[in-house]
Amino acid sequence: MSASVKEVKRITTHVLRNMKAQGEKISMLTAYDYSMARILDEAGIEILLVGDSASNVMAGHETTLPITLDQMIYHASSVIRAVKRSLVVVDLPFGSYQGNSMKALESAIRIMKESGAHSVKLEGGEEIVESVKRILSAGIPVMGHLGLTPQSIYKFGTYTVRAKKDDEAKKLKEDALLLEEVGCFGIVLEKIPAALGKEVSESLSIPTIGIGGGPHTDGQVLVSHDLLGITKDFKPRFLRRYLELYDMIKEAAQEYAKDVKSGDFPNDKEQY
Ligand code: KIV
Repeated sequence: MSASVKEVKRITTHVLRNMKAQGEKISMLTAYDYSMARILDEAGIEILLVGDSASNVMAGHETTLPITLDQMIYHASSVIRAVKRSLVVVDLPFGSYQGNSMKALESAIRIMKESGAHSVKLEGGEEIVESVKRILSAGIPVMGHLGLTPQSIYKFGTYTVRAKKDDEAKKLKEDALLLEEVGCFGIVLEKIPAALGKEVSESLSIPTIGIGGGPHTDGQVLVSHDLLGITKDFKPRFLRRYLELYDMIKEAAQEYAKDVKSGDFPNDKEQY
């Protein structure tokens, strides 16, 4: 952890902006429950994202679309109870903000009031800017999310790299500038060419956080279940696995079952 961040008691949106200005990279990971959030907060991760990827990795859905606002609030409250230092960002789930800025504001207020979270994240650019503005007008910090936006998977039809073509790249650059102009404190850039990640990051004074957006974004985010190897078959090029927990947990469970069945567990010391 660098000196400037070590001195910071709580990560705020201002701290993140200063980090970008000083060229200090920002780390962000997803968290959905108390125990994991406590570990990641203690590890010094600056931003914990209560992502709607909970729909996939916690609930086993194929997409992020089914997760509800109530379920996001449940996950966010669990994370908030663990956190002492990280900034907590919560995804507004599909259907809770698109096309109706009043509904977006109500959803964001419910998240802030009922979970105690510090900010919200919305997917999209110009199409959802009225919702972003309305939420910001209530004093709620907003993070944007451009590039691959999984809530629109049925529009894209595929999870492939976005904005490779000039027209889509141009729209993404305009959307990023618009989100900065209206007051977002940061933008996630998902699965876009590294050169575009660099160009967008250099054009903004708010931090960009990449996931498959190359090395030049101001920070990086991963789904913690992917980084820890709890998800087994998901192997996109951008992912670096730091553990293989799927196999480790499975082996531990098999050992335990073996010991129970053989009568080795509990032993003399493991009883009253
Ligand atoms: O929901 C999520 O985990 C996300 C990240 C992939 C950025 O939005």
